[in-house]
Amino acid sequence: MAVTKLVLAAAAAVMATTTASAAGEDVRFASRGAGESHLPLSFKVEDPSVTNRQSYYSPYGYGTGDPHFYGFNHAWFDFAGARNQAFNLISDAAVHVNAAFIGGPVAGQTFMGKVGIQAGGGVDRVSIAHCGYSCIEATVNGAALVADKETVTPSGARLLLTRGENATVEFEDATYRLKVSSPIADTVWKGGAEDTPHLDIAAELLGYPTDPHGVLGQTARHLTSAAVSRSAVDEDAAASADDFAIEGVDADYRVSGLFEADCVTSRFVARSAREIAAVRMAAARGGRKLLSVVEHGRKAIATAGVHM
Ligand SMILES: *[C@@H]1O[C@H](CO)[C@@H](O)[C@H](O)[C@H]1NC(C)=O
Repeated sequence: MAVTKLVLAAAAAVMATTTASAAGEDVRFASRGAGESHLPLSFKVEDPSVTNRQSYYSPYGYGTGDPHFYGFNHAWFDFAGARNQAFNLISDAAVHVNAAFIGGPVAGQTFMGKVGIQAGGGVDRVSIAHCGYSCIEATVNGAALVADKETVTPSGARLLLTRGENATVEFEDATYRLKVSSPIADTVWKGGAEDTPHLDIAAELLGYPTDPHGVLGQTARHLTSAAVSRSAVDEDAAASADDFAIEGVDADYRVSGLFEADCVTSRFVARSAREIAAVRMAAARGGRKLLSVVEHGRKAIATAGVHM
């Protein structure tokens, strides 16, 4: 009896050490640039043994189908929200991502129909919608996104729309890479009877998040620089998928519109309309003289604490 206990205690100690180093030293962020992503190509893979993080993956998470979520902390969970309402997926200091939910063929079933991304404190608004299976439409600040051509937004975010099977819009700012896709029809699960055209979303980290929240964002809280250094010395601070429970109630994540941040989970720091207008106007006009206005605007925003 005593020997068994001793062995178990030793095994527990080894496990604790592994957890701490997994959450601490082993955090490797993704490299920047289009085509650098190691996110799974298909977000329909729901078998944890297949999707489980491999060593070359940066921290990532995603939401797929009638939404099932895979967290940055490896937790699998559902968030149904409600049809015809919008919910906050990720909220952090400079970026805020909502999804508008739609109904599915089964009563009570919901999917994500549109995604709205605010970047650079609201300087940029990216609107993404499906237009059928493998069909995606996107606008950035009201202008349609052109396919197969990288667009750099006024706040410095990069966007790339790829048409074809599982059409995708890739978004990248200083901290987050998002892939929003309009997948092909699922003809396998119940012969396709429970699928409808919708959007899936995957998120990958390029650096430490500031203060992440939202349905998916909350699973990255163990990856802020403070949490990572804490977990290196205190194994109890490391993320555990088993202990994870989504915080609060669905209503805490509800927003009144695709580009609203009026939810309990908002961590978004919106810049003033004046700041945003100055940067947008400068970017729209372009030109050498006005570039200095952009620089000035960026400096003002950087001073105010937004990581651009
Ligand atoms: C699209 O997604 C399906 C499954 O979700 C996958 O089998 C297929 O390979 C994907 N196609 C492309 C071009 O990524």
